[in-house]
Amino acid sequence: MDSQVEQTPHEKHVFPPSPEFRDAAVAGPDLYAAASTDRVGFWADQARELLHWHTPFSRTLDWTNPPVAKWFDDGELNVAYNCLDRHVESGNGERIALYWEGEPGDSRAITYAELTADVKRAANVLTELGVEAGDRVAIYLPMIPEAIVAMLAVARLGAAHSVVFGGFSADSLRARIDDAGAKLVITADGGWRKGKVSALKPAVDAALEPRGDLPAQDTVTNVLVVRRGENEVGWVEGRDIWWHDAMAAAEPEHQPLAFPAENPLFILYTSGTTGKPKGILHTSGGYLTQVAFTHRNVFDLRPESDVYWCTADVGWVTGHSYVAYGPLANGATQVLYEGTPDTPHSGRWWEIIEKYRVTILYTAPTAIRSFMKLGRQIPERFDLSSLRLLGSVGEPINPEAWLWYRHVIGADRTPIVDTWWQTETGAIMISALPGVTEAKPGSAQVPLPGISVDVVDDAGTSVGQGDGLLVVTEPWPSMLRGIWGDEERFRETYWSTFGDRYFAGDGARIDEDGDIWLLGRVDDVMNVSGHRLSTAEIESALVAHHFTAEAAVVGASDDTTGQAVVAFVIIKESQKADAEATDVAAELRSHVAKQIGAIARPRDIYVVAELPKTRSGKIMRRLLRDLAEGREIGDTTTLADTQVMRIIGDKVVR
Ligand code: WT7
Repeated sequence: MDSQVEQTPHEKHVFPPSPEFRDAAVAGPDLYAAASTDRVGFWADQARELLHWHTPFSRTLDWTNPPVAKWFDDGELNVAYNCLDRHVESGNGERIALYWEGEPGDSRAITYAELTADVKRAANVLTELGVEAGDRVAIYLPMIPEAIVAMLAVARLGAAHSVVFGGFSADSLRARIDDAGAKLVITADGGWRKGKVSALKPAVDAALEPRGDLPAQDTVTNVLVVRRGENEVGWVEGRDIWWHDAMAAAEPEHQPLAFPAENPLFILYTSGTTGKPKGILHTSGGYLTQVAFTHRNVFDLRPESDVYWCTADVGWVTGHSYVAYGPLANGATQVLYEGTPDTPHSGRWWEIIEKYRVTILYTAPTAIRSFMKLGRQIPERFDLSSLRLLGSVGEPINPEAWLWYRHVIGADRTPIVDTWWQTETGAIMISALPGVTEAKPGSAQVPLPGISVDVVDDAGTSVGQGDGLLVVTEPWPSMLRGIWGDEERFRETYWSTFGDRYFAGDGARIDEDGDIWLLGRVDDVMNVSGHRLSTAEIESALVAHHFTAEAAVVGASDDTTGQAVVAFVIIKESQKADAEATDVAAELRSHVAKQIGAIARPRDIYVVAELPKTRSGKIMRRLLRDLAEGREIGDTTTLADTQVMRIIGDKVVR
C-alpha cells in the first residue's frame, strides 16, 4: 500500500470518480452545459434556486461600468435570513448548525433555531448600540460560535463587518479599524490556543487608546466583549460592554429587513504589493449566490446528512465563505474548532472527525504536509471512515501531499477537490467537480461552470498550452466590488494590466488536457501556510526598528509552510555596537510579530552589509531568493554593483 504514496507522482496519474459517487453526485455534467449555453442566465438560475429574494431581481448583470460589476442589482434580500430563519421556517430548526469544539475539550451543539435566536438578539444589541445599515463593525474574536453570531447579526442589519484575524497585532487591528471607520468592535477577553488562554482584549484596548504619536481612535463608540478565556481584562467604563449582559437584556424578536443585492456585506483586509493592506469589499446577493453554489457543488453537499468541517479561521476569506456564509446558506451541519491541531495531542483533528463523524473535510496543504511529517500512525489510530470528500485550498498542493491525503486520510476512496480562489474572488473559481471531473493530483484543474479564465502571456495573448499569467475573463457574481476607500488602487492592481480582464497575480500553466496548474504568485506577495503576506509590509515593520537601516524580504520555499519569510537587513552604523550586544535576529523577529502578528515573523534573518540593487535602486529579490533557497545565484548583470552578491553570499551560511 505504501508504494502508491511513494511512487513518483506524474501528471497522468488521474483518479476518476467511482461509479457510486458519480451516480449520487450533487453536481452533474449538465451544469457545464447550461453555463456554456447562457453564462449569465445560469447565474440567475442559481441565484433564484439557492436563495430567498425578498424582492426578486429582473436584471442579472450590469457590466456597463467596469471594473465595478453589479449583479442582481434591483433584487433585495437579507443575507442572515437566508442563512438562518428560512431553514427554521422550512422545518429544519432542529438541525445542528454548529458542532463547536473548544480547545480544552468543552463543546456545544447549536441548532439552526438556536443560532437564529442568538442572531436576532445580537442584532437587537447592535441596534441599541447605534449600528445601522451601511455602518462598519470590526470583529476580533477567537473561533467560537459568537464569531458567527456577530458576523450574521451585522449582516442582518445591512451593516458591513470587518473581521480581523485574532493573530494580528494591536497595530494591524488599529489600521483596519481606522481604514474602515468602524463604529463598534466585537471582541473577547481571550481564546484558547496551544493549551492556554491567549488574550485578545488588550490588543483592542491598545488599538483604541492614544499611543506614541497616535491620538485615541475616535470612530469606535463601544466595545462588546465576549467572555471566553475568563482572563482578567482592563475595562473602560461607558465604552466596554459584556456580550452576555447585553444579550440577556436584548429583545428576542427581530424582523430582518430586505437590502439591495449590492449592499456591502463585508470588508476583509489582505496583503498587497505595498505596505498597506487592501480592504477587499464584497456585497450581498452575488457573493451569497456563488458561495452557496460552490459550497453545494464542489463539496457535493447533502445538508440533511453531511457533517462538514472547514478548518479555516473566520479571520480569513475561507472562514467567511466556507465557514460562515456558504454552509449556513445551504443549511449544512458543520464543525467549528477553536484551537490548534496539536493540542492537547497531535491527533486532535482526527479525534474530532471520529467524534462528529465528519464527512467532508476542507483544509490547507500546509496542514497536510505537517501531518505527513508526523507520520500516518497518528491518523491511523482514529476511525476516519465517515469521510467521503476532501478539499484543499490556499496554495498549490504538491502531488506527494495530495496522494498522502487521499491514501491516508481518504482511504483511497474519497475524491479530492483542489480549489483555487482568492480573497478578491470571494468564492471558488477553479476546481474539479466531484463525481464529474477526473481528479489530477497537483492541478486545480478547470474553471467552475459560469466562470471564465485564461492563461495569457505578458502581452495578454492566450498561451493555449503552456505557462503564463492567470486572468479571469468575465465578471463573476462574488467578485470584489472594490478596495475600500481606494478606487484608484482597485483599478491599478487588478485591471491596469490586461484591460477588462481581471489579473489575479498568479502564474499558471495549461497542460495538454486543458487542466490548469497554479504556479504561485508573480508579484511581491508571499504565501506562508496558505496566508498572504506582503514583502513590503514586513520590510516596513523591519525598518521601523531602530537597529535597521534597510531591509529586504523574500518568500523562500519551505517544506511545510509552502513559503517562509526570509529577511535580509542592514544595521545602521550608529547602532552596530548595540546590535552586536543583542541577538539581532531574535529581536527583529519578535519586533515583526509585535508589529504585524505572529504569522509574519521571519523564519530567518540575515544581517548583511549590502543589498543587491539595480542601477535604478530596485532591490533584486530574485537573487535574494536564490540565496535563501541555497541555489546558484542567477543572472547578476543588471546589478549596480556586480560584486555585492559574492559579499552577501559569504555571509549567508545556514
Ligand atoms: C492566493 C489567494 C482562497 C482562500 C485562501 C487564500 C493562492 C489559493 C490555491 C490553490 C494554488 C492557491 C494563490 C492565490 N491559492 N488557493 N488551490 N492552488 N494556489 O486566499 O489569502 O486571498 O490568497 O492563494 O496564490 O492568489 P488569499
